[in-house]
Amino acid sequence: MTDLVKVQLEDGVRVVTINRPEKKNALTQDMYAVMADAVATADDDPAVRVVVITGSEDIFTSGNDLNDFLKASMDDAETPVWRFLKAISSTATPLVAAVNGAGIGIGTTMLLHCDFVYACEEARFHMPFINLALVPEAASSLLLPRCAGYRKAAEMLMLGEPFGASEAVAAGIVTAVAPNKSQLEMAMDTARKLAAKPPSAMRQTKALLRGESQSVKERLEIEGGEFKICLTSPEAKEAMTAFFERRPPDFSKFN
Ligand code: COA
Repeated sequence: MTDLVKVQLEDGVRVVTINRPEKKNALTQDMYAVMADAVATADDDPAVRVVVITGSEDIFTSGNDLNDFLKASMDDAETPVWRFLKAISSTATPLVAAVNGAGIGIGTTMLLHCDFVYACEEARFHMPFINLALVPEAASSLLLPRCAGYRKAAEMLMLGEPFGASEAVAAGIVTAVAPNKSQLEMAMDTARKLAAKPPSAMRQTKALLRGESQSVKERLEIEGGEFKICLTSPEAKEAMTAFFERRPPDFSKFN
């Protein structure tokens, strides 16, 4: 168990707060475990009508802890990160995110599974998988072209450059930009409205809107298999070692 993720219940809204600011809210396996449980148990808890995911004051999350990637400790089929991905992609409970700074890697891709996303003006988004010699995850290779179109998805996933909140709105990743850091307020406002709606019709509406859950499940599996192989590649080792050594990676020796 970890206290780096807080889970609280407020008026039918389960609020999951990532709180490891000294490491830019990088997600460890323990943190994913708490997040996975918070989402996975929501459907069966009548007290929970909506789940809100947010970060600490100035950062949403810098994504997976790169130390875990270096250890390549993701090879077990039921890892917490895998449980988290399955939970956010299959939950019947509405998911709302409040992005209060950078959302990197899974910090952007998890948003594709949320029904509403509010981001502060300063929020930055980044899916740097290619820069780390990895492949997209969280079914983003399927969901991003769906919401942003192939051209935009290729730009974001093949160039792996960061982008701001208004571009994220244009790409369909973010619902609205929140002025003056009001993203949590906006998220809670929407969450309370959702919590007051008829729960069964809400679950059905979400299922109809999401549709094709089988293809998302299949894409998660395919990406997961390729991601695991990439993690142990010399290219990925070079990319992650370079991050911790605070130098640019050198991929010139690979073919
Ligand atoms: N995994 C592990 N540690 C991380 C991390 C991550 N994903 N992101 C940040 N940290 C750690 C840094 O190593 C540093 O630790 P230290 O103080 O012990 O040296 C601390 O958090 C602060 O990060 P720093 O890079 O100094 O902050 P910054 O403000 O200059 O940059 C980021 C912030 C988020 C832009 C930058 O940390 C970053 O790019 N992180 C990696 C993001 C990433 O590639 N995630 C994986 C996606 S698949």
